[in-house]
Amino acid sequence: MKLLITGGAGFIGSNFVRHILNKYPDYQVINLDLLTYAGNLENLRDIEKNQNYQFVKGDIADKKLVGDLVKDVDVIVNFAAESHVDRSILDSAAFIRTNVVGTHNLLEAAKNAGGKRFHHVSTDEVFGHLEPGDPAFNESTPYAPRSPYSASKAASDHLVRAYFHTFGLPVTISNCSNNYGPFQFPEKLHGLFITNLLEGKKIPVYGDGTQVRDWLFVEDHCGAIDKIIHDGKIGETYCVGGDCEKPNIGITRKILEILGKDEEMIEYVKDRPGHDRRYAINFGKIKRELGWEPKTDFDTGMKKTVEWYQANEAWWRDIKSGEYLKYYEKQYGK
Ligand code: NAD
Ligand code: DAU
Repeated sequence: MKLLITGGAGFIGSNFVRHILNKYPDYQVINLDLLTYAGNLENLRDIEKNQNYQFVKGDIADKKLVGDLVKDVDVIVNFAAESHVDRSILDSAAFIRTNVVGTHNLLEAAKNAGGKRFHHVSTDEVFGHLEPGDPAFNESTPYAPRSPYSASKAASDHLVRAYFHTFGLPVTISNCSNNYGPFQFPEKLHGLFITNLLEGKKIPVYGDGTQVRDWLFVEDHCGAIDKIIHDGKIGETYCVGGDCEKPNIGITRKILEILGKDEEMIEYVKDRPGHDRRYAINFGKIKRELGWEPKTDFDTGMKKTVEWYQANEAWWRDIKSGEYLKYYEKQYGK
């Protein structure tokens, strides 16, 4: 099988590229990534010389490039996105361009190449948010996004489904809850808090820290997408979650505990505008139909994650100092 993986130099994409190449030694992977601030080829150093792996620097919104790449592959897995909610609040233009226009371009290319198999990696944030006590999101939950990021992902999901109904494009979608684990960019909760504490800096908890997320270890998300591209039913959506609802302050305290730091390191800061209160996923469908469920429990996943940042200090220090961007400028130009 030959896969075009977009956004494969980011957090989840790079874990997925590694997952596929390690698990299926005869598969070929093309990784198409624009190397925005979030893309980092250091995430893939260990596999860059693999004979079955090819990296292409480029934009999913580039018609000619995508049209050429798609012709030669069996499956497209679309991770490429602007992914950080806070950035979408500051400036959402890139979110519309990549998440909506870029996904549309990929769909067009997949259609024009005779109807290529297309898996779209999406988020639980498209469903909006829950109050404490509400039932968890599932595949029938109506869309109600509340941030520019989640609105752009919702738009892309609608386009993917429209290409299935209108053109018969063989698509699947996964809507996953919050991921954590190795290679997460240090702007998201885990990456930022762990690296700040390793640097002796304070950690900024938004508002009162009672917002709840459903956490999934990244390798388990990769396993779910693997199942869907092999056994998923065309035209279907699968909700993927960790069965692991935790308030932000709970995650914060866990990180402090693992690193042996005390609560003085917490700084309560101004809340995120429109901050979603709670996410939770009912993953009954993918469990029943495809036999997937998370394998990594919270304590194990948290320990692995903190240890990974401790062992990979050069990786996050280069990101935090901006050093990693200089490497790409040298390699690929600005
Ligand atoms: P990330 O920000 O770490 O990585 C995104 C990658 O996409 C980067 O490598 C970036 O360079 C690349 N990219 C951005 N714009 C591009 C473009 N126009 N063309 C080609 N490449 C481009 O994101 P992530 O956290 O790994 O998320 C990956 C996907 O999973 C996203 O679609 C996101 O919406 C979805 N998702 C993320 C989570 C989570 O918790 N992080 C949960 C559910 C779903
Ligand atoms: O639910 C899936 C989504 O999870 C993905 O679609 C997004 O791409 C991903 O970024 C993530 O979105 P969140 O906004 O939930 O993740 P983030 O790590 O930014 O924040 C997690 C929670 O922690 C959220 O309630 C905000 C809070 N937070 C975050 C940061 C960065 C803080 O309290 N302080 C912070 O500094």
